[in-house]
Amino acid sequence: NARGWDLTAPEDLAEIDAARAPHREARFRAGPIVAGQGYDGDGLEILNPADPSDIVGHVVEAPAELIEAALEAARPWDASPAERAAVLRRAAALYEENFGLFFALAAREAGKTLLDAVGELREAVDFLRYYASGIAGLERPARGTFACISPWNFPLAIFTGQLSAALAAGNAVIAKPAEQTPLIAAAAVRLLHEAGVPGTALQLLPGRGETVGAALTSDPRIDGVCFTGGTDTAQIINRSMAANLAPSAPLIAETGGLNAMIVDSTALPEQAVRDVLASAFQSAGQRCSALRCLYVQEDIAEDLLEMLEGAMECLRPGNPWDLSTDLGPVIDAEARATIEAHVAKAKDEGRLIHRLKVPATGLFTGPAVLRVSGIEALEREVFGPVLHVATFRAEELDAVIDRINATGYGLTFGLHTRIDDRVQSVVDRVEAGNIYVNRNQIGAVVGSQPFGGEGLSGTGPKAGGPEYLPHFTAPRPPETAA
Ligand code: NAD
Ligand code: ALA
Repeated sequence: NARGWDLTAPEDLAEIDAARAPHREARFRAGPIVAGQGYDGDGLEILNPADPSDIVGHVVEAPAELIEAALEAARPWDASPAERAAVLRRAAALYEENFGLFFALAAREAGKTLLDAVGELREAVDFLRYYASGIAGLERPARGTFACISPWNFPLAIFTGQLSAALAAGNAVIAKPAEQTPLIAAAAVRLLHEAGVPGTALQLLPGRGETVGAALTSDPRIDGVCFTGGTDTAQIINRSMAANLAPSAPLIAETGGLNAMIVDSTALPEQAVRDVLASAFQSAGQRCSALRCLYVQEDIAEDLLEMLEGAMECLRPGNPWDLSTDLGPVIDAEARATIEAHVAKAKDEGRLIHRLKVPATGLFTGPAVLRVSGIEALEREVFGPVLHVATFRAEELDAVIDRINATGYGLTFGLHTRIDDRVQSVVDRVEAGNIYVNRNQIGAVVGSQPFGGEGLSGTGPKAGGPEYLPHFTAPRPPETAA
């Protein structure tokens, strides 16, 4: 895995500051890149979510004629697996060289703290190298053209993970980044082209999901869709593909979660609090893996919550550009309004346990802890820094696991206990893709912790794991292909 940066080392911080500085006030542009040619025009403003006076750049949405042109121009990557792997490795090196650009865009366009920006770049680089390594021995043909549709919350890592797997397997890719974060995606595509990915193998179509995304996922020239985002969106795409694409076209979808953690009375409280804090509030809770519902055994609940409130007060909200910030904004006004309405309702019902104060300007929303009777009270994923807490008695542990499984989601799950036998029995029963014991439940590492969920949380295969790449290839070996 990529080395990354040590944020406790003054020399690393000085290097980061110097590399980011030229991008502090720059204005970026993103537009369609079709058959290697970039298109510009009147664009929509992209504003810094932490500071509405900071115009980060402009984006030009792909018009219908360029969507058509991209579909016509798309050609699978006609190079040997070894050549494709070499190009993806070159791209990984270029990403690392351009760390200042990516850290600046992660902060200004996506509201990411430096800690998150470092994780984002490392994961993107890891994906490029991991799938490059996976090509060796993968003797199956490409499927054709993949539409890769990505979310804003990992605008570089997931964007790159999707397309690098599809490209590694030899497919053509038409990438549709999230409407909130096209600038970082365009910067990445330019580097991938510079590394040697042909313009007809990798094209970029920025724009809204309902227009550009829907046009791609309903076009029979698309041979597969790789999607990460909300469960509702995945269901829309699934229906559109069924109606319009060949039945053989796969949908690889990674979606949302209603993730739980159980903390029993034998847990080490300081460790549990540290891990709850990171799981629920790092990245302002805007991770699909984030903890949404904490079940804490009633014997220790009062003490644990008191410690958690104290720990929350130590978080420093602010502009993610500042090195001291460890809590950034949420992505847009709509997200903030949804979160605020959810917290306001809980407050009206007397269920607000604690809330941190945040800056008044910028799209900040105070991390909140809300009391709930159980996980079933969360009707849907609230995508932000909101932790729901329920208590349980020792004899209710099995029933709690049943309730967690009954949500139908199955992305991440956390357990804090010091009873060895309990670890295995709980892990055996919980239906979740990624289970973490006595640690936080975010930040899966490419190659060692393949990431993906079950049920409403995704179709699998897990990203960053050995089964991912084969799904981007046709099921037949070349010699038996018709
Ligand atoms: P979203 O579903 O709103 O958008 C995701 C992408 O889908 C965007 O590019 C969007 O433009 C596109 N899209 C929207 N409507 C579309 C349509 N009708 N047809 C085609 N494309 C369409 O999700 P988001 O708000 O960008 O991201 C947050 C969600 O992503 C959360 O639910 C989170 O849990 C999930 N997520 C999951 C994972 C995972 O690995 N499981 C990782 C990150 C985020
Ligand atoms: N892979 C990301 C995480 O584990 C979503 O937090």
